[in-house]
Amino acid sequence: MSTDAPIAPSSVESVAQRLLALPSFLESRIIGQEFVIPRVVPTLQNGELGLSDPGRPKGTFLFLGPTGVGKTELTLLMCEYLFGDVGKHCIRLDMSEYQNQESLQLLLGQNESSRGNIGRFYDKAEGRGFILFDEIEKAHPRVLDIFLQVLDAARITVANGDTLNLSNFYIVATSNIGADALMDLKNSSIATIERFIEDLAAAELRPEVLARFNVRCVFQRLGYEAQKKIASIMLKKELKLLTAKNHHLTVGKGVLELLVAEGVEPRLGARRMRTTVESHCRHAVREAMLQGLPTSGELIALNGKLVIQS
Ligand SMILES: Nc1ncnc2c1ncn2[C@@H]1O[C@H](COP(=O)(O)OP(=O)(O)OP(=O)(O)O)[C@@H](O)[C@H]1O
Ligand SMILES: [Mg+2]
Repeated sequence: MSTDAPIAPSSVESVAQRLLALPSFLESRIIGQEFVIPRVVPTLQNGELGLSDPGRPKGTFLFLGPTGVGKTELTLLMCEYLFGDVGKHCIRLDMSEYQNQESLQLLLGQNESSRGNIGRFYDKAEGRGFILFDEIEKAHPRVLDIFLQVLDAARITVANGDTLNLSNFYIVATSNIGADALMDLKNSSIATIERFIEDLAAAELRPEVLARFNVRCVFQRLGYEAQKKIASIMLKKELKLLTAKNHHLTVGKGVLELLVAEGVEPRLGARRMRTTVESHCRHAVREAMLQGLPTSGELIALNGKLVIQS
């Protein structure tokens, strides 16, 4: 995710000002998911203004949709904006690691002196932040029971008998349920797609799980323009980094098209974009350096590579 610092929670700006600026911050980082951001923002604002339901998590989100389209990225950005240090305040639990009965012990601890993964992460997060349950459909039914309890009562009791209070956390669950079917629905309206995916999710998850989320969002596949914009944002960051090393580059013909062609895949979304941008730009600078050519100028695409035209 981005390393550009958002407005730090510790800055002198008032809470209200920060919360007002939240949508534009998220919109500048999450591309092509225009329907999602207006849905998550009110819940986040409620949570920070003390308007969420007492005795429940600050907000509960279900993010559905294909892989590599921004579900985790949005969660990390929301956490970064509200709590600053993602490494500390975002607890990520991959449910594919909690598929059997024994995984309950992994989560909650196995004896009177242990608190399991959840207790460990909770302590590190100092009792506030985000809990991200990835691939929720893979969780063992007993783990799902615990998850329901968290959504309902913001409480979880770990093996040593401590009850953790999760009412200062936002809970996000993600799932790729129905992602394959999205391909066949690409000409349908957003409302139709959402209904279809939600029905599938209701069938696969327990309906009572689905009903408990404050916000349910279906993320869309990234269109070509969105892909180009993501490439362009990442490219800007990379060029800034190279400028700091005294290589001044501008973006010329065919560059974004090449990056999109390599950085986006129907099966992976934009997952490979960052490494694609980095490796192509650094290849161009490295080659110029090795051959004693200028490392500042215009980047252009040539024979499937980027080169510098001075
Ligand atoms: N809509 C988007 N806007 C900006 N960047 C994006 C977007 N979608 C994907 N990316 C880029 O692709 C990477 C992978 O996306 P992300 O981790 O959010 O996928 P995901 O939707 O959570 O997929 P999965 O279902 O496999 O977990 C991100 O780190 C980000 O760099
Ligand atoms: Mg993810």
